[in-house]
Amino acid sequence: MDPLYLRSAGTSLVISFDSGEAEVIHWGADLGGVLPDLAILAAPVGPSSIDARVPAGLLPQASSAWRGRPALRGHRITDDGAGFDFSSHLCVTSVRAEGSSATIVQADGDTGVSVSSHLAFHDGGLLELRHTVTNDGSTPFQVDELATVLPVAPDAVELLDLTGRWCRERHPQRHSIQQGTWVRTGRHGRTGHDSSLLFAAGTQGFGNRHGKVWATHLAWSGNHEQFADTIGDGRTLIGGSELLGPAEVILAPGGSYTTPALFAAYSDHGLDGITQAFYSWFRSRPHHVLPAASTRLPAGKPRPVVLNTWEAVYFDHNLDTLIELAESAADLGVERFVLDDGWFRGRRDDHAGLGDWYVDGNVWPNGLTPLIDAVTSRGMEFGLWVEPEMVNLDSDVARAHPDWIVGPSAAAHKDGGRLPLEWRNQHVIDLVNPEAWQYVFDRVSALLAGNNISYLKWDQNRDLSEHGHAGRPSVHEQTLAAYRLFDELRRAHPGVEIESCSSGGARVDLGILERTDRVWASDCNDALERQTIQRWTGAVVPPELVGSHIGPTTSHTTARTHDLSFRGITALFGHFGMEWDIRSVQGKDREELRRIVGLYKEHRNLIHSGRRVHADLADDALLLHGVVAGGSVAEGAELQAGTTAALFAMVSTRTSAAEAPGRIGIPGLNAERSYRVEAVFPTTDDADYGHTFTQVQPPAWLAGGATASGRFLAEVGLPMPILNPEHALLLKVTAL
Ligand code: GLA
Repeated sequence: MDPLYLRSAGTSLVISFDSGEAEVIHWGADLGGVLPDLAILAAPVGPSSIDARVPAGLLPQASSAWRGRPALRGHRITDDGAGFDFSSHLCVTSVRAEGSSATIVQADGDTGVSVSSHLAFHDGGLLELRHTVTNDGSTPFQVDELATVLPVAPDAVELLDLTGRWCRERHPQRHSIQQGTWVRTGRHGRTGHDSSLLFAAGTQGFGNRHGKVWATHLAWSGNHEQFADTIGDGRTLIGGSELLGPAEVILAPGGSYTTPALFAAYSDHGLDGITQAFYSWFRSRPHHVLPAASTRLPAGKPRPVVLNTWEAVYFDHNLDTLIELAESAADLGVERFVLDDGWFRGRRDDHAGLGDWYVDGNVWPNGLTPLIDAVTSRGMEFGLWVEPEMVNLDSDVARAHPDWIVGPSAAAHKDGGRLPLEWRNQHVIDLVNPEAWQYVFDRVSALLAGNNISYLKWDQNRDLSEHGHAGRPSVHEQTLAAYRLFDELRRAHPGVEIESCSSGGARVDLGILERTDRVWASDCNDALERQTIQRWTGAVVPPELVGSHIGPTTSHTTARTHDLSFRGITALFGHFGMEWDIRSVQGKDREELRRIVGLYKEHRNLIHSGRRVHADLADDALLLHGVVAGGSVAEGAELQAGTTAALFAMVSTRTSAAEAPGRIGIPGLNAERSYRVEAVFPTTDDADYGHTFTQVQPPAWLAGGATASGRFLAEVGLPMPILNPEHALLLKVTAL
């Protein structure tokens, strides 16, 4: 059988069938038009090993002598007990390729197991892979794990993955690849604050814009593992799997289980190339939220400026105050007003009310309509916070249906079944129970039908610990039931956008993003922390889908105080908003805030459609990152003279060892084109200008701008001003 050779955007995948199974020969750079006879790759067989060469299977298996982590672990349950048919020898039975997609079926008639693998290479080079295992036998087959993996080249010697916690999501950690398995496990029943949105292997010292990188993402919002597995002969596979609970998936005869999708990208120019592959996939989705005036993309709706009430009023809901806040928001140019937690029955703090999705008549005697009218009559959309998957014991729904509360025991809570420990005083509602699911659907649907609501901030504020349905683990089913809830509500209310929030950014993954329109990256609105959180969230998720708000002057979660300009420039590179009692912002500060809103509106089409660029700087106290117009450098060449070609943020995160930053290259522009670089915010007219710099004399170009070619700007750069720590400067690049 001929090898399968899939190619897209400078990347390729070669799968050989010579060994009888699907073997991944290459995932990486495009190999050109003609492949050689792949027999040249038959490896030597070493001593003290199985007497055959060992394929790196698309489904690595012990029956082919793979001694690393196998793709499929499972066994058959018969009248004689469990553990039968524990080792399949899967061989190819069919290959169907169409364009840049393929379906490969491998089966073992003896064990009665088959696996169908679907691979799709998207236009920007992003590879999507998932497997479906089917029980072809006549007795139940228990699936313990089905992993999606890909091999990386031998020169991938370093791993980069992301970790985090509440208010510090998605921070990178790196180490060299050693023999053995590096596993990142998520047992949170949700994606998790510490989940590795990006799991990357690369050549020595790979950076933002240099080095080869192979990266994966597992599109799943439940328990999972991501890993790099390096076996004794030095080969490394990276990938991931859903982490299943004991006997969580048992396939009846004919039944099947499908893995979450593994998304994979390769880049020969560092992490920015990986990011571009993900962005290009996101932006090609028909339901993607798009900037209206984008020339490259079909028309959509620009991402509206948001005002969220959480850090402004918390649970202190009062109609007069909120109307004042809405008036203040409208005055600043806000386009979407989001009422956060605290509006529903019994919800005066975080001890009660979850599950009772009725407007609280004590606080809102006339319902939400007076506020919604105040918001919409000022030209803003109205959004509402909900947390549909959760329940407080102190709620009418928990009192009426104690058996809807998830626990580890077969006995319902009302019959003495033990509940998991509380987390933020709350429990999980059992969406696997069809009645509970229907109740939640009906309540949220009724709210949407009965009120003029354009947007839901859909929260999920606890781990699913000891999570079971009828005494058996059920995170898998709960995750699918939650997905179905999103999907059905979207179908019933197609105009409503949904944000995925989970104690900040604990549910950011491509599974949830298939059914939501943005993620809340973190409860931390501290601009300094946000520089890192947004940089690494943005490594996979484009800025139009990442909520980023200007918070109060002194951060509520870190007690750090930052100038408005630093907070504003940080929030600009996302889906921008505010989360602050903006009624208190007056005088020069208010004018500066108005200016930032204006900058966002002026540049959001660029920010939400361009390429993300991160310079590799020698001084790690400094960051230079930006968005460059057009999906490719070539498109940058075609920009009309006078259009904004890029926006960059020059950021100082702390004091530098050096007295001055020196010349810093501005990468990512078209080399042959001429550009004008100007500092646009803060300028001498802005209140923050004096705080931002520490220099006696600014660099000469700062006053009037600098004109140079893309090549000059990248290779020679410009002497950057001496920024004070925790300050930023916004640069605009215009095509000439
Ligand atoms: C979570 C969210 C916050 C806010 C609160 C409300 O913590 O992450 O943004 O909505 O819940 O209770």
